[in-house]
Amino acid sequence: MKKVIEVSIIAIVGILVYGLITLLPNFFPRELKTFENDSELRTAALRSFSPMPKTYDEIIKLTNINPNNPLTKEKITLGKKLFNDKNLSQNRDISCSTCHVLKDGGADNLPTALGDTFQENPFHLNTPTVLNSSLYFRQFWDGRVKNVEEQASGPIQASFEMNMSKEEIVKRINENKNYMKSLKSQNLEVNFENIVNAIAAYERTLVTRGAFDDYLDGDDSAINEKAKKGLGIFITRGCKGCHAGLTIGSQSIQKFPLHSWWNEWLALELIKSKDSFLPEIVVKDNSFPFKNTGGFKGLNNDQKFKVPSLRNVVRTAPYFHNGEIKELKEAVRIMGKYQLGQIFTEEEIEEIVEFLKTLDGKIVYKEY
Ligand code: HEC
Ligand code: HEC
Repeated sequence: MKKVIEVSIIAIVGILVYGLITLLPNFFPRELKTFENDSELRTAALRSFSPMPKTYDEIIKLTNINPNNPLTKEKITLGKKLFNDKNLSQNRDISCSTCHVLKDGGADNLPTALGDTFQENPFHLNTPTVLNSSLYFRQFWDGRVKNVEEQASGPIQASFEMNMSKEEIVKRINENKNYMKSLKSQNLEVNFENIVNAIAAYERTLVTRGAFDDYLDGDDSAINEKAKKGLGIFITRGCKGCHAGLTIGSQSIQKFPLHSWWNEWLALELIKSKDSFLPEIVVKDNSFPFKNTGGFKGLNNDQKFKVPSLRNVVRTAPYFHNGEIKELKEAVRIMGKYQLGQIFTEEEIEEIVEFLKTLDGKIVYKEY
């Protein structure tokens, strides 16, 4: 009996100490740097982010970097048509642009993607934006492929997306005189690789620029005061540690959630038992701060995900790999709590969201 009491006391003290250590930083917030003026804020911002170029030609210079798929005017024009052509799917009912709707931020605003004959993505994965994706360090939620060329062959063949074989695609291309003419004029063979490369070439032009880029380029009035406060928080509190670079994210793979919260670890759930009157007690699966429908756990099944780019994020709801979170405010709150171990005030969250709005942009287009 004495032993049981001793062990219980040790366990309780252990839990209290652990809880205290986890919560301590919230009682004694660090003195955080504040920015005196635009020039200080901009200098700090430029250490983590860079502005998107202003002109189409500069953008092409930036994205024309795959030696196996040099960009040409003709290839891009063909790629645009293919990206929008439903004939590339088994039942001629969807194209890339069905799920990646450019005017809606390059995604579909559904929690989970719907493919050929309305099949749900089997892992309940949310459609990420296609905008700026050629500038990411890798593609897909778990970063499993290297570039947009490798990526584009995936959805065409996936049974739950466009559901086609390489041979079937070539057959469909043969049905279209304009496609055949275009490939011939470019001296390109009619094969799967060249078709996929043309789509990827078009994707390499889908680059956006917005108010935040104008601010980085020196225009103090491009973003409002509230957004500037949000940017300050984003920099000083640690968001920029993962969401950085030209695309403000998508430059690394990170664990999510990073911080586990002791009180949620211990959450128990009572569920109705099949075999007895008494309910069963189970430890709740708290591996994610939301219902992880589809059970996708990222790279190596280890809860590692490609950090999404936050460009155009206001238009790409719902959020996270399985689209379980509808509101951007809630996504920011979760990030603060689980990636940084910080509880943000309502005001701080609103300021961060105001900053995220400045990451919305327009495609820097040139119609050929
Ligand atoms: C059924 C809807 C659907 C269709 C059709 C579709 N996609 Fe996607 N796309 C998705 C989903 C869902 C993902 C994420 C899958 C994953 O990470 O495993 C994705 C991922 C991507 C990515 C990676 C973005 C990132 O953040 O890493 C690119 C690029 C892309 N798709 C381009 C295309 C192209 C090009 C086509 C046409 C050939 C296409 N998609 C067709 C739903 C779709
Ligand atoms: C330790 C790395 C890390 C830090 C720090 C971090 N994030 Fe994230 N962020 C991620 C990862 C990884 C995901 C994707 C998780 C998933 O989909 O399951 C993500 C997703 C998001 C999303 C959802 C994007 C989408 O398209 O679904 C938003 C919004 C976001 N983060 C904002 C922030 C903000 C604001 C901060 C600072 C408060 C922050 N992040 C800090 C790694 C991080």
